[in-house]
Amino acid sequence: MNLLVTGGAGFIGTNFVKYVMSHRPNWSVTVLDKLTYAGRRENLSDYEGSERYRFIKGDICDPVAVQGAMEGCSAVVNFAAETHVDRSIDDPASFVRTDVEGVRVLLEEFKKDDSRSVFLQISTDEVYGSVQNGRSSEEDTLDPRSPYSASKAGGELLAMSYFSTFGVPVVITRASNNYGPHQYPEKLVPLFITNAFEGEKLPLYGDGGNMRDWLFVTDHCSALVAAIEKGRPGRIYNIGDGQEMTNKEVTFAILEATGTDPSLVRFIEDRLGHDRRYAVDISRAREELNWKPDTDFQTGIALTVDWYRDNPQWWQSIKSGEFREYYKKMYSTRLENSERIQ
Ligand code: NAD
Ligand code: DAU
Repeated sequence: MNLLVTGGAGFIGTNFVKYVMSHRPNWSVTVLDKLTYAGRRENLSDYEGSERYRFIKGDICDPVAVQGAMEGCSAVVNFAAETHVDRSIDDPASFVRTDVEGVRVLLEEFKKDDSRSVFLQISTDEVYGSVQNGRSSEEDTLDPRSPYSASKAGGELLAMSYFSTFGVPVVITRASNNYGPHQYPEKLVPLFITNAFEGEKLPLYGDGGNMRDWLFVTDHCSALVAAIEKGRPGRIYNIGDGQEMTNKEVTFAILEATGTDPSLVRFIEDRLGHDRRYAVDISRAREELNWKPDTDFQTGIALTVDWYRDNPQWWQSIKSGEFREYYKKMYSTRLENSERIQ
């Protein structure tokens, strides 16, 4: 298997490439990544020089770059995306461009060679929108409510149209919130861990009662390998863990794992259109992919905290760059008007 992994220098892409390099010794990997603010080529520096690995800096919206990168590849795993909901509220255009148009460019190139085995489109449980009761199943109606989730829904619908119209062997996975090493510190878990290390405030949106299903990133990676090997073309698979927690509960787990005083927690003005709850039914992935998650939250969060503790240069270099301006813009006024935890 010669995989083209787009967005391989980002959080899940990095963990996925590492997973494949150690668990599938006969597979080789080409990474195509634009290296936006979220991508780090050095995450994969251990593999530079390996015959099984090559890195190409390029944009999935650029047909020439995509053609060169896909040459000789038998399967595509598309992680490349703009991924942060808060940034999508500020700048929807970049999301539509990469998360929809980029998918079209990849599919157009993919369909030129019908010997290719799978186009795996990495999607998200956010396409279901906020779930009041029960769990989302793959047949549920899509109700994306942010520019990010709407773009991801557009990308996967387009991918599925290439299955129906052209017979492209598209498989789609919809995962819940991932956490683990190498996650860019704009997202809740790494932001709160690194802020705790720095003695900075932990800004919880709204009442902290929004619920997410937390999936350790390595469990997501094992599901994706199973989807490549066993997924049926034209099929969608939810990937999650059932570790449903409020943001407040996640925050307290991080406080405990980092030995931080709760007085650093602040309730700040909520995210616009903030989805209250996501929860996915993963019985299809369990039955058809023979996959199950292995890492409970206590174990996963301890591993994650250890990784950030052991790799301060990784996140400190990010937090001292462009991130500083982003953080000021997103949080400074809201933190001035914030409330302490009771
Ligand atoms: P990330 O933001 O950490 O990484 C995204 C990567 O894509 C970066 O390396 C970036 O440089 C690259 N990229 C962005 N635009 C590109 C372009 N136009 N061309 C080429 N490369 C480009 O994201 P992540 O959290 O690792 O998410 C990866 C995928 O998984 C995304 O498709 C996301 O929607 C999906 N997903 C993420 C989660 C989660 O909890 N993080 C959950 C479900 C699904
Ligand atoms: O559900 C899957 C999705 O999970 C992925 O598709 C997205 O790419 C990924 O970013 C993630 O989206 P969320 O918006 O759920 O993740 P985030 O880490 O930004 O926020 C998690 C929860 O924490 C959410 O309810 C908002 C809240 N939050 C987030 C931040 C950054 C806070 O309370 N404070 C914060 O500072």
